[in-house]
Amino acid sequence: MREGTVGADTLEKRAERNIILCGFMGCGKSSIGRRLARLAGRSFVDMDEYIEKKAGKTIKEIFAEEGEEAFRQMEEDAASALSRERGLVIASGGGTVLREKSRDALAETGIILLLDVPFPALRERLKNDTSRPLLQRPDRDEAMYSLFLERMPKYKAAAHMVIPAGAPANFVAREILHRLELE
Ligand code: S3P
Repeated sequence: MREGTVGADTLEKRAERNIILCGFMGCGKSSIGRRLARLAGRSFVDMDEYIEKKAGKTIKEIFAEEGEEAFRQMEEDAASALSRERGLVIASGGGTVLREKSRDALAETGIILLLDVPFPALRERLKNDTSRPLLQRPDRDEAMYSLFLERMPKYKAAAHMVIPAGAPANFVAREILHRLELE
């Protein structure tokens, strides 16, 4: 994990800093992020939606028509643009912080929190998903599990803090407020 600077921050700085939620697909980045933003009186940005709006097409269409690398570049551009904003709650995409430039841009003005959810819960939540390009394959469970094993250490390395996130979104959002001393 990265060095946390939470305790040393002044209150003013803390309010300005973006809060970025990262973690595997289905870990609750968007639902928890929305609740957290509401509780903290902050604006919320979902990076996937932000990119879809900018591109004028869905992520599924971006992957199909332009390929994954083009999507990762769009994520990098979004990370760079959002890092120039202040006080946001940002739900990143499941792959965003795995790209060094995107992670570094977001970390420059924000604190990155990993939402940690055990694999069986993620598998259950994603079993009927049709919108995520990486999951549309016959061996979904196996592919998801190897991606999960490969990515978890990278999420942990990118994050300033790990938040257990198996509980309902409202509880997790309140726990984050408490951990960041934003109550
Ligand atoms: C991806 C996760 C998705 C979306 C895209 C790629 C990934 O976001 O950005 O399908 O690489 O894990 P969610 O984590 O919000 O599903």
